[in-house]
Amino acid sequence: MSTYVKGLEGIVAAQTEMSHIDGQKGILEYVGIAIGDLSTKSTFEETVFLLWNKRLPKQDELDAFSKDLAKRFALPAAIVEEIRRLPKTAEPMHMLRTMVSSLAMYDEDPNANSVEAAREKSINILGYAPSIVATFDRYRRGLDPIAPQPGMSFAENFLYMLNGEKPTETMARAFDICMILHADHGLNNSTFSARSIISTLSDVYSAITGAIGSLRGPLHGGANEGVMKMLGEIDSVDDVESFVMGRLERKDKIMGFGHRVYKTKDPRANALQALAKQLAEDTGNMDLYNKSHRIEEIMEREVGAKGIYPNVDFYSATTYHCIGLKLDLFTPMFALSRLGGWSGHIIEQLEDNRLYRPSAEYIGKHEVPYTPMNQR
Ligand SMILES: CC(C)(COP(=O)(O)OP(=O)(O)OC[C@H]1O[C@@H](n2cnc3c(N)ncnc32)[C@H](O)[C@@H]1OP(=O)(O)O)[C@@H](O)C(=O)NCCC(=O)NCCS
Repeated sequence: MSTYVKGLEGIVAAQTEMSHIDGQKGILEYVGIAIGDLSTKSTFEETVFLLWNKRLPKQDELDAFSKDLAKRFALPAAIVEEIRRLPKTAEPMHMLRTMVSSLAMYDEDPNANSVEAAREKSINILGYAPSIVATFDRYRRGLDPIAPQPGMSFAENFLYMLNGEKPTETMARAFDICMILHADHGLNNSTFSARSIISTLSDVYSAITGAIGSLRGPLHGGANEGVMKMLGEIDSVDDVESFVMGRLERKDKIMGFGHRVYKTKDPRANALQALAKQLAEDTGNMDLYNKSHRIEEIMEREVGAKGIYPNVDFYSATTYHCIGLKLDLFTPMFALSRLGGWSGHIIEQLEDNRLYRPSAEYIGKHEVPYTPMNQR
C-alpha cells in the first residue's frame, strides 16, 4: 500500500553520493565536504570535478579538467548566429533553455547515453552555457560578443565576456563562490526533473532543458529575482517592518524564505550573507544589505518558530546585484552553476538506471455512461 504525499515531501526517490543535506542542523556537504569549506577553499571547476568524480582532483587532473572546460568557452559560429537571431526581448531563462535544447542539433551523436558520452556532453553544455548567456546579453544591448580569454577561469571568463573587461579579483572570486554554493542540492525539483527525463534514456540535452524549465519557477530558482523585486518595493530600512507584516497578514510569501528541507537557516545563506555584506560595503549598496538584514530579523521573530529562515536565494540577490548583474540574469546564474549538479545526477542516474514512473491516486468517478454529443 502506498500513500499519496502532496509535493512528494519526504519521499526518497534516488540514491546519490553527491550532496547531503541535514535540514534540521543546517548542514550541506558535497561528497562529504562541508559547503563552508568548499566556498572558502575550492573553486567552481574543482567543485564540479568533485561532484562528477566523487573525489577531489590532484593538481594535474584539475588543470586538465579546467583546460578541457575552457576549450568550450568559444562558441561555434553557427550557435553564435542562432543567438543573434533570437528576439532581443526574450527572457534569458527562456533563451538559455532554448539554446541548450538547440545544442543537440549540433551534436553528431546527440542521443549517445553511455556514461562517457554523458560526461562529454555535460562538459560541452557547461562550457558553452556562460558564453551563450554573455553572447545573448551583449546582442540585446546592441554589442558584439567578446571572445573568451585563454587562462581565465569559468567565473572570470563569464564576467569578462559579459562586460568586456577583466573583472577584479574580488568580483571574480565572489562570483566563483556563488557558483560553488549553487552547484548541487539533493533531489530538488530541477534535479529530479533531469533525473526523471534521463531515466527514459532520452538524452542529456533534453534532461538539462527540462531542468532549466523547472528552475525558472518562482518557487525554485526564480526566487532570487523575486527577492530583488521585493527589496525594490521597500523604500528604506524603516519601511521593512510594515512591509513584512503586511505580507504576512495577507498570507503572501516573503521571497527567499522557507525551504522544503531546511527548518533552520540554509548554510548557503550564511556564506552568501557574509559575501553580500562585503560586496555591499565595497560597492555602496549597504541600503540593500541593511534592508535584507532587517527582513531577516523580523521574519525570525514572526515565523522562525515555524522553521522559516532565509534560503540560498535571499542574500544571493544582493550579491548578484553588487557584482553588477542585471535582474533577469540572476536565475540564469543559478542555472550556470546548477549545470554541475544536474550533469552529475544525470551521470549517476545512467550508472544505475531505472525508469521513473510513479503512480497517481485516481479520485475521479467510475462507470460513468458516455453521453452522446446532442444530450450534453
Ligand atoms: C520554498 C517553499 C516553496 C517551500 O514550500 P513548502 O515546503 O511546500 O511549504 P509551504 O509553502 O507549504 O509552507 C509551509 C508554511 O510556511 C509558510 N511559509 C513558507 N514559506 C514562506 C515564506 N517565504 N514567507 C512566509 N511564509 C512562508 C506557508 O505560508 C505555510 O504556512 P501555513 O502552514 O500557516 O499555511 C516555500 O517556503 C516558498 O514558497 N518560499 C518562497 C519562495 C522561495 O524563496 N523559493 C526558493 C526556495 S530555495
